[in-house]
Amino acid sequence: MQKYHNIVILTGAGISAESGLATFRSSDGLWNNHPVEKVATIEAFEQNPAYVHDFYNELKPLVFQARPNAAHLALARLQKEYPAPVSIITQNVDTLHEKAGSEHVLHIHGQIDQAVCLNCGRVMQASGDVDTETSCPHCGIAGMMKPNIVFFGENLLCMDEVDSLLRRCDLFVSIGTSGVVFPAAGFVQTAKYAGAETYEFNLEPTSNNFYFDRHIMGKAGTTIPAFVEKLLTNREN
Ligand code: OAD
Repeated sequence: MQKYHNIVILTGAGISAESGLATFRSSDGLWNNHPVEKVATIEAFEQNPAYVHDFYNELKPLVFQARPNAAHLALARLQKEYPAPVSIITQNVDTLHEKAGSEHVLHIHGQIDQAVCLNCGRVMQASGDVDTETSCPHCGIAGMMKPNIVFFGENLLCMDEVDSLLRRCDLFVSIGTSGVVFPAAGFVQTAKYAGAETYEFNLEPTSNNFYFDRHIMGKAGTTIPAFVEKLLTNREN
């Protein structure tokens, strides 16, 4: 393993599974009792915002009580100790990377602890309930707040920064994502074309894995601390 100059890490729901948060597409998945088209599309929100708000309000306590696991902690350690930039891009709306001590995490699918005003576009912290009556603290308009979660049919967040990171990384690591939701599922291809070495960590083989050089199977809470240890041991080579 060589010394890298720009490391980019993409995380998905699998990294938070050992923190007790269900992944999206497992049999007991997060959307199990709620059809995805009713809680995670922009059309659903436009047609029935109260239903969508209720879903995320119910989810919040579950997400907030979760604690970072060994994989989140190992990545935070890597960011602090590696002698080159280590960027974390996450599809997760939880904030377990931040709770583990990571900084400047790019939340391309938004965050469950925030809401965005559809009138003025500003984001507010929203750890408590948000509903169809909630006023925007910035523009004062009521009833225009949406969970700051990117629904199917909306654009991803922070994409300019993500694109520039992918184009200059020399190590790209994907952790705990099924790789079926684009554009995130295509990040590996951009990194590979930029010349990066590419690693995939997952419990099981995924379908969209053509651009990965290496596949490491197992629970992220075990495989990621071991991988980070190796990177740190080889950092001066
Ligand atoms: P998925 O539920 O599609 O995939 C989770 C992946 O994690 C699967 O491939 C599992 O095999 C793997 N996995 C489960 N437990 C693991 C563990 N302990 N260690 C390692 N891997 C494990 O979740 P995502 O790929 O993140 O968007 O889903 C992508 C997006 O789909 C989500 O961000 C969500 C949804 O649309 C929004 O909410 C906006």
